[in-house]
Amino acid sequence: MTMIALTVNARDISADVEPRTHLADFLRDGLNLTGTHLGCEHGVCGACTLLLDDMPARSCITYAVACDGARVTTIEGLDDDEIMVELRGAFTREHALQCGYCTPGMLISARDLVLRLPTADERDIRAGMSGNLCRCTGYVGIIRAVRAVIEARRARGVAPIVGAGRSSLGPAGSGHGTPSSSGIIAAASANAEAAPVPNATMSIPDFTPETTFEQHFIVAHPPATVFDFFGNIPAVAACLPGASLSRNAMPGHADGAIEVRLGPISAKFQGPARIERDPTTMTGRIVGTGSDRRSRSSTQGEIRYRLTPIKQGAATEVRFSIGYSLRGTLAQFARPRLVQDMAERMTTDFAHNLDHALSGLPQNGRAGNTTSLDGITLLRDVLRQRARRLLRNIWRRSSSPNE
Ligand code: FES
Ligand code: FES
Repeated sequence: MTMIALTVNARDISADVEPRTHLADFLRDGLNLTGTHLGCEHGVCGACTLLLDDMPARSCITYAVACDGARVTTIEGLDDDEIMVELRGAFTREHALQCGYCTPGMLISARDLVLRLPTADERDIRAGMSGNLCRCTGYVGIIRAVRAVIEARRARGVAPIVGAGRSSLGPAGSGHGTPSSSGIIAAASANAEAAPVPNATMSIPDFTPETTFEQHFIVAHPPATVFDFFGNIPAVAACLPGASLSRNAMPGHADGAIEVRLGPISAKFQGPARIERDPTTMTGRIVGTGSDRRSRSSTQGEIRYRLTPIKQGAATEVRFSIGYSLRGTLAQFARPRLVQDMAERMTTDFAHNLDHALSGLPQNGRAGNTTSLDGITLLRDVLRQRARRLLRNIWRRSSSPNE
């Protein structure tokens, strides 16, 4: 199984999939999005067409694992799309469907033509729709419907979008999404960002981390103040080097990214997180998943924290454990010791920024910086820490002669 994280109809989804599972099965069986139909399963009939990074693509010949980091829009995600509303009306008026089996794929291909064809030329429309087969209608009504929508939009002064906004050639779903070529999809995404996503947290499963380590730091503020601050996700993200939120955090849920650099590889893990807090025990837990397109790596992570009062409650000891599993290219470089070294550095910066934020002081430019361990720094820090550990062990042994 391979873990992937992608956006489906403006919802962040992560899941374990078998490498052989194609995208249509993943959507239909895994997410119950049955509007994507399967006909030939050979890439011929077009019934399974959907938008992958805003480009029409055959989901029956696209592996789900190849869509890690991609943006998938199915017919269900185009309910409120302006062009789709016009196309549905035109299909009804022109009797452009009978059994309707080919219709979701037809509509998605037709939408692409409406976006980019400058004129409603019948030859161009027939050529553009030739990758979608229909057993019932004889195509005449379908072509008339598409023509009618293009004509009506151009008559209203709606200009075509060259290439429907495509900025590059290449396989759709290769994970290099550009901002939506359609204002409508962008608007739908914006609405989805504002609206609660009821099932989003369900897509973040519990997991058993492959590697876990512990960290702690002390902050000179009472536990209640620190715990309150930890409930303010944007403020916490502002203290964490390399972290950013990609949409408004909601109670119990956040979507964001964290950028790190490890030796020759820099990675920006992007994905959702589930947040749990218990004020009675002053504990909390964050479980998240993320993927990075450039390094083709993905991760699941979990942070558990506990706040303990010290100095008669005037200060707080923050103890936390970090657990993670890493997949992909970065996993080959990210030895647990290196990740721990980087986490120690992030913890130091986070503690510093947290203290400044709670004291109302500026962050000294440490927040928002990518945490990096470049080659020389990496070597120097690792050697320094190993030397420190060696000295500590020698010291312990020499002070306990009986060992
Ligand atoms: Fe995908 Fe036919 S089912 S092209
Ligand atoms: Fe039946 Fe097209 S309407 S296959």
